[in-house]
Amino acid sequence: MTVLQKRVQVGINGAGPAGLFLALLLRREGIESIVLDSRERGAIEETIRAGVLEQWTADLMRELGVGGRMDKEGHFHRGITLQFLGERHHLDFVDLTGGKQVIVYPQHEVLKDLIAELLAQGQDIVFGVKDVQLHDIEAKQPRLTYTRPDGKACEIQCDFIAGCDGFHGPSRQAIPKELRREYQKVYPFGWLGVLVEAPPSYHELIYSNHERGFALLSTRSDTVQRMYIQCDPPHTSKGDDIANYPDERIWDELHARLDTADSTLTEGKIFQKGIIGMRSFVCETMRHGNLFLAGDAAHIVPPTGAKGLNLAVGDVLRLSRALTQFYKSGDAGKLDSYSAEAVRRVWKAERFSWYMTTMLHRNPEESDFEQRIHLADLDYVAHSQAAATALAENYVGLAVDL
Ligand code: FAD
Ligand code: DHB
Repeated sequence: MTVLQKRVQVGINGAGPAGLFLALLLRREGIESIVLDSRERGAIEETIRAGVLEQWTADLMRELGVGGRMDKEGHFHRGITLQFLGERHHLDFVDLTGGKQVIVYPQHEVLKDLIAELLAQGQDIVFGVKDVQLHDIEAKQPRLTYTRPDGKACEIQCDFIAGCDGFHGPSRQAIPKELRREYQKVYPFGWLGVLVEAPPSYHELIYSNHERGFALLSTRSDTVQRMYIQCDPPHTSKGDDIANYPDERIWDELHARLDTADSTLTEGKIFQKGIIGMRSFVCETMRHGNLFLAGDAAHIVPPTGAKGLNLAVGDVLRLSRALTQFYKSGDAGKLDSYSAEAVRRVWKAERFSWYMTTMLHRNPEESDFEQRIHLADLDYVAHSQAAATALAENYVGLAVDL
């Protein structure tokens, strides 16, 4: 069988936020890459995932020339609202962090902007590939093999492979098991997320701790809103199924958890719904030989802190700087410290995501004592400038170099 062969400097597996941001960052430095993804472009651009961009992620989009639509269509929020015991408490991030804010602009819109810009610049992106395999990652010239959608077998020879293929992709598994140290926590609850045709019910995000479980009110546009409720985790013996949630039940739960004495949610047509599980996961190391992991391929956070997408971008910004140093000066110093420095920052986002998740959800495995502690934590954040500042600093995003 003929195998189509090609050589590039960096082979990137995965066209999610990590892979696409990396390709654009490398192009800016004149470093050549190819991006592979097992999904079709349409599927990538339509999958509903994260919603919040940290201040520096938005700034990076502008710097890379892909911030135009975000600035026009994104929703700029100066803070968030925490709701507990029926009361709402506004945290003003702009005041607490010296001017930083967050932008609600969904992940699939970010991906559309990145793909359009990369293709306009002539970037090689191959969608719909099958059977991607990583070879010789410990050697000087690692290889990626795959089958193109037209059935042709291909081989990419490169200097480095960037494993940006998410939690279930092959890159992490290519690191020998005995060299990986993995840390995991699976939460005994999930999120049911809906998209609703309705005007906004509130001017900012509301994170609610309620005795019936957590709820989150977010937004997408002036006519579409995003809402989540805590449910049982999917894929377990007592797992929740979307069939258990007719629209009426979803509205009952949303009203119970998010309404207050003087405000109620505006209902509308629910046109999309799905359930996700919640997990914290870190793989140490994020490098083996000439394979570098980035984003969900190396770590997962539960979505409560809105960190997953931003963390993936932080990894590839660091990786792009390391590769740039290598190609410009032959110095492998930043490549050698990539894993240790990335992991250090990842653990801070893991801590914050765990903290927000623990504080805001009702965990059936916890005692009443622990529930009271979470309410005390919320009360502390709502009334202490020091505690609110710590939450705000993490929510708007820690410095990439931390
Ligand atoms: P991904 O976005 O997963 O991209 C990996 C890419 O690799 C995918 O396009 C995939 O098709 C490709 N790939 C996988 N396997 C292969 C293979 N074998 N060969 C070739 N390509 C492959 N975060 C939040 O902050 N808030 C949220 O509300 C939120 N909701 C989420 C909902 C869901 C269902 C999921 C899965 C994640 C959610 N996240 C959320 C997390 C956030 O979306 C991720 O952290 C972010 O997508 C990570 O980007 P990534 O590029 O590392 O990985
Ligand atoms: C959204 C998702 C999150 O995980 C979060 O913390 C805030 C907002 C969203 O989808 O809009």
